[in-house]
Amino acid sequence: METVGIGLLGLGTVGSAVARRLMEQWELLAERAGATPALRCVAVRDVSRSRGFDLKNVRLVGDPQAVVSDPAVSIVVEAMGGIDPATGLIEASLRAGKTVVTANKAVIAASGPRLSALAAEHHAHLYFEASVSAGLPIVALLQGSLLGDRITALDGVINGTTNVILTQMRTPGVSYADALADAQRRGFAEADPSLDVDGWDAVSKLVILSRLAFGVNVTSDAVDRRGIRDVAVADVGALAQLGYRVRLLAHAERAASGAIHLRVRPTAVGPGHLLHAIDDADNAVIISSDLAGTVMLSGVGAGGGSTASAVVSDVVTAVRERAAPMTQPAPLTTPTLLGDEDLEVAGYVRLRLSAEADARALVLQALEDRGLAVDAAVDLTGLELAVFTGVGPRAVHDRALETLDTLTSVDEILGDLDRVEA
Ligand SMILES: NC(=O)c1ccc[n+]([C@@H]2O[C@H](COP(=O)([O-])OP(=O)(O)OC[C@H]3O[C@@H](n4cnc5c(N)ncnc54)[C@H](OP(=O)(O)O)[C@@H]3O)[C@@H](O)[C@H]2O)c1
Repeated sequence: METVGIGLLGLGTVGSAVARRLMEQWELLAERAGATPALRCVAVRDVSRSRGFDLKNVRLVGDPQAVVSDPAVSIVVEAMGGIDPATGLIEASLRAGKTVVTANKAVIAASGPRLSALAAEHHAHLYFEASVSAGLPIVALLQGSLLGDRITALDGVINGTTNVILTQMRTPGVSYADALADAQRRGFAEADPSLDVDGWDAVSKLVILSRLAFGVNVTSDAVDRRGIRDVAVADVGALAQLGYRVRLLAHAERAASGAIHLRVRPTAVGPGHLLHAIDDADNAVIISSDLAGTVMLSGVGAGGGSTASAVVSDVVTAVRERAAPMTQPAPLTTPTLLGDEDLEVAGYVRLRLSAEADARALVLQALEDRGLAVDAAVDLTGLELAVFTGVGPRAVHDRALETLDTLTSVDEILGDLDRVEA
């Protein structure tokens, strides 16, 4: 059977799981690929460090460029992370006509369309299934099974770190800082957690998914982003009492006009919603489309095993398709973004009423006067009130909140979140 040489950039969490799979299951993979994917060369930063398993017959190098230029390597797997030098190494591989498989969401979000075009130009392929929610086959679904559909919306819990933190914060007495520290201890959060907790990781993944789902040329700037640092534990607790879960929800939609909207925001998820049950490090993505209706993928969205599942699957596909002519990537259109006057959202506001007589009624009346329906109002402890605002334009919500801030019946607005129901 023919052999296809694989080069690997990085031997960390993802790279080592990929290397093990390629070495331990090569016969099975060869059967599926129609040729043997043989790991030839691996780049790491520190070549002297023991990796805990035997890399027999594999060249270990400290210079990643040596993998790219190794004549025995036809497929380069990039599992080192970061923008630089990963982007340049992917470019160099594609220019040399080598197919690239990457798990790197930052690179694909920043440069995916350009790199796909570069791949086509050099008769190479670019695969990136692992870049979104690791082993959940969401890219394959959007690039394959749903190609006959018009997708109208995507909703997902696509960042495990924030979901671990928000899940922990439901336990009484656990603050955001406690939950973050615990997630760091358990290996779910980095020492510098900002990419996750400020929403950037989810933004990158949403950008990649939106390009595939809607055929639009979007970048991270198009995403309305709010992280979880300012989510009050009191809101997580109050909502939990009422049957809601707070999640960092990634949402993309395409309106009938063709305008699109992308957001990553902490959101109160109602009971009965498909994302309500997605706790801890699990990920899930719901795709809404005109023919298939609602399709959901859920499972482990990070970690060596799950990510290697996607990477190795891409490697097998790459070996299988190595002789296939590269088709030009579908052209992406420049989208119009849906404005706040047209974007419909529901909300949750927690506030402390003043001691003014009829404060509660005055607050609810003020919301109705500003054109915002109230679905429910729930008295919490003391003078605190939770208001579930009905579906209405984002601009109306924002203006109503500004009004509340000026009312003498309101002592303080304590928290506000988007809300989704089943
Ligand atoms: N971990 C996950 O659960 C997960 C899930 C989905 C996607 N991803 C993506 O997968 C990629 C890898 O993540 P990871 O968690 O496996 O990272 P990691 O554990 O930090 O491993 C990175 C590897 O790359 C090597 N490396 C980094 N810079 C290098 C350089 N300049 N030259 C040579 N080698 C270099 C490191 O070498 P040393 O070992 O010598 O330091 C290490 O082996 C990232 O793009 C990440 O976003 C990760």
